[in-house]
Amino acid sequence: MGLLSSKKKKKPAVEPPKVGAVIAAAGSGTRMGPDYPEGKQLITVGDYPVLAYTLNAFEQASSINEVVVAAREEDIVPISELVKDFGFNKVKVIIRGGDTRQQSVSIAITQLSENIEYVAIHDGARPFVRPERIDQTVAAAVQHGAAVLGVRLVDTVKKANHEGIITGTVDRNLLWAVQTPQVFRLQDYKVALAVAAANGKDYTDDSQLFESRGRPVRMVEGDRDNIKITTPDDLLLAELIAERTGLINADWTRL
Ligand code: CTP
Ligand code: MG
Repeated sequence: MGLLSSKKKKKPAVEPPKVGAVIAAAGSGTRMGPDYPEGKQLITVGDYPVLAYTLNAFEQASSINEVVVAAREEDIVPISELVKDFGFNKVKVIIRGGDTRQQSVSIAITQLSENIEYVAIHDGARPFVRPERIDQTVAAAVQHGAAVLGVRLVDTVKKANHEGIITGTVDRNLLWAVQTPQVFRLQDYKVALAVAAANGKDYTDDSQLFESRGRPVRMVEGDRDNIKITTPDDLLLAELIAERTGLINADWTRL
């Protein structure tokens, strides 16, 4: 007893909060046009489907405990196969999304495990997010309550009136293009979602839910290659990014 009690007791390590990711992949990709019936999340870029890159980043991000995917009904089976083939062990469930992105996310968060404290919401169509950026955004959200990834604008931005006459130049240092993931305390996010739904608001950007309630959201500087595949033009850029960085970050289980 004496000997044992003289030993220095190890301090219990502070457990990091449990974080669940919601991957919004239930859109119909209208802006991709009619040439991609498989849906933009399942288009092959480089050697892999878009969603494989996305899920791989979350599989590798050490801050993420589990992943819920919202998908179109017809994509649930192919996505389940993709998850199995690539061995994405963090994926807990693939559910059918809703008519809008906000609805897809609100259905998906009901599937997160009970011990989840933070939710990281990410576009399925943003395949090139880096795992370390996910971790940084989570860390900022844990510190500040909410955080989103974004990049500074590089273009000069003008304001113009309805007649098209320029009325001013906006200070570029204050302007950001917002990306995902967007990370929130799950409880706060649920409240913000309920308030938005009660007011008939449907946002395409999750942080708007928070800003509209005057809650601070921390901006985390990310990378310009974290593009969202929106139009066919984006696929050209996506091919280049996949070639340059996509596989460097990957730890593919079936290469
Ligand atoms: N999304 C979703 N559920 C919806 C609509 C969108 O999960 N009902 C997802 C998309 O799958 C995408 C992300 O939200 O990964 C960003 O949306 P966006 O780029 O607008 O995709 P789509 O809505 O599919 O495309 P479009 O607006 O051109 O139809
Ligand atoms: Mg859309």
